[in-house]
Amino acid sequence: MSDPRPVPLLALRGIGKSFLGVRVLDGVDLDVAPGEVHAVVGENGAGKSTLMKIISGVYVPDGGTIDFAGEPRAFRGPRDAQRAGIGMIHQEFTLLPERTVAENVHLGHEPVRRGLVDRRQMLHRTRQVLASIGESALPADARVGRLGVAQQQVVEIAKALALDARLLIMDEPTAALADHEVELLYGLVRRLQQQGIGLLYVSHRLTEVFDLSDRITVLKDGRRMTTVHTADTTADDLVRHMVGRELSSYYPDRAGPEDLGPVRLTVRGGGNRKLRDVDLELRAGEVLGVGGLQGSGRSALARAVFGAAPFTTGEVTLDGVPVRLRSPRAAMRAGVAYVTEDRKGEGIVARQSVLDNALLASRAAVAARSGRVARTARIRELLAAVRVRSAGDDQEIRFLSGGNQQKVVLARWLMLNPRILLFDEPTRGIDVGAKSAIHDLVRRLARDGAAVLMISSELPELLGMSDRILVMRDGRIAGELPAGATEKDVVALAVGSVEAVA
Ligand SMILES: Nc1ncnc2c1ncn2[C@@H]1O[C@H](COP(=O)(O)OP(=O)(O)OP(=O)(O)O)[C@@H](O)[C@H]1O
Ligand SMILES: [Mg+2]
Repeated sequence: MSDPRPVPLLALRGIGKSFLGVRVLDGVDLDVAPGEVHAVVGENGAGKSTLMKIISGVYVPDGGTIDFAGEPRAFRGPRDAQRAGIGMIHQEFTLLPERTVAENVHLGHEPVRRGLVDRRQMLHRTRQVLASIGESALPADARVGRLGVAQQQVVEIAKALALDARLLIMDEPTAALADHEVELLYGLVRRLQQQGIGLLYVSHRLTEVFDLSDRITVLKDGRRMTTVHTADTTADDLVRHMVGRELSSYYPDRAGPEDLGPVRLTVRGGGNRKLRDVDLELRAGEVLGVGGLQGSGRSALARAVFGAAPFTTGEVTLDGVPVRLRSPRAAMRAGVAYVTEDRKGEGIVARQSVLDNALLASRAAVAARSGRVARTARIRELLAAVRVRSAGDDQEIRFLSGGNQQKVVLARWLMLNPRILLFDEPTRGIDVGAKSAIHDLVRRLARDGAAVLMISSELPELLGMSDRILVMRDGRIAGELPAGATEKDVVALAVGSVEAVA
């Protein structure tokens, strides 16, 4: 920011919050100026989402003050905060897929004329809002269910703007976006900024934080560690404030020739509605990376191997034996595990304990083979290895932060001791400290004989972790790259042209 002290749009002082006697926010101060992008970072469970929910009226703080647009406020609920001009973009989209863009944008505050919803006015206003953020190309009368994730997010933002939001809160807005969609969001954030809208931006992706923000606040264990101008800080500094120590930026060693075991999985001529001519081979001890744009068939590949959307043509072998995995159940029984990218949607039982959630898959699968005590001991090890932070194993999982819930799901799958592990975006939404722990764990599993297939949109992770990389495009494998390939190599194969990258 050029002017160091413009009148803040939002000023928090001494915000505190406890849940059931546990203090999760303690004396937090935070200012956001009009037109400022203020990033909030910190480990899973640091209190970021709780703070955002206080600002947007979801939670009432136990202490402290909130000034918005120069006035002290005490929001009685999200609608109250919305009316004041605070919009929150929820990651779990609140849109109705069967309704149009315009209907969603005006949901709950439809313009009415002579007692009827004024559709023309609704379309008109929606087009105005979309134009104001440079998104005129998005059809106001399209059904939301037909839109991609990035476009749905634009609708969420338009919805907030239609209510005249002056402050927008984005809590991990890119968690569901592919790389090229993130670019779109960047453009959008800049245009919002030019309109003088203040933005609070929560993200685990530090590149984004550096690309977008004017200032950064670091939370740790519910306390504000520091607030810095982005231009005056480095990623290393931030990480030190976040985790309280230095983190090595190295990935675990790749597999050497001695680490590679027998071929565990082969696919020949695999195809279905979303895939064609898939040939691949995966060996024990190996981490095979899968890159490509969203929609290129990466997840379809994992789902096909896992039997969730099976191959309809071609041949699959497991440990040399031809198999037909027609259901996830069959795949799990054959030793295949799939950690999907949608870990939140994937069967968390909100009112059950962390331990019961972690044991969910293995209870059925290995019940006959090992007793409760042994399983409990093993799952505790895994929960610690992925760094789940909770008040205890018997805490209900719904009280864990988003990132920590994801780690529990991860541990649940590892509990199956799979021979083949399919990971879809394994570290999305997971903090920097836990991320390297998970990288180490993935490599350890490979070294212990598992064959790992890992999809990642994060190029440094894909390049850092993989022994080989398959790049997908239009449902096919566009090419294979050896370890040591560059980001440019991956992108060139993913988009199918060298010029596009140069
Ligand atoms: N409704 C609740 N009841 C009890 N504890 C809660 C509740 N909501 C959050 N917590 C606790 O508050 C702490 C902060 O959680 P919060 O969701 O704010 O973390 P976060 O910084 O957003 O983490 P993440 O990066 O994983 O999203 C966590 O320890 C969490 O378990
Ligand atoms: Mg959160």
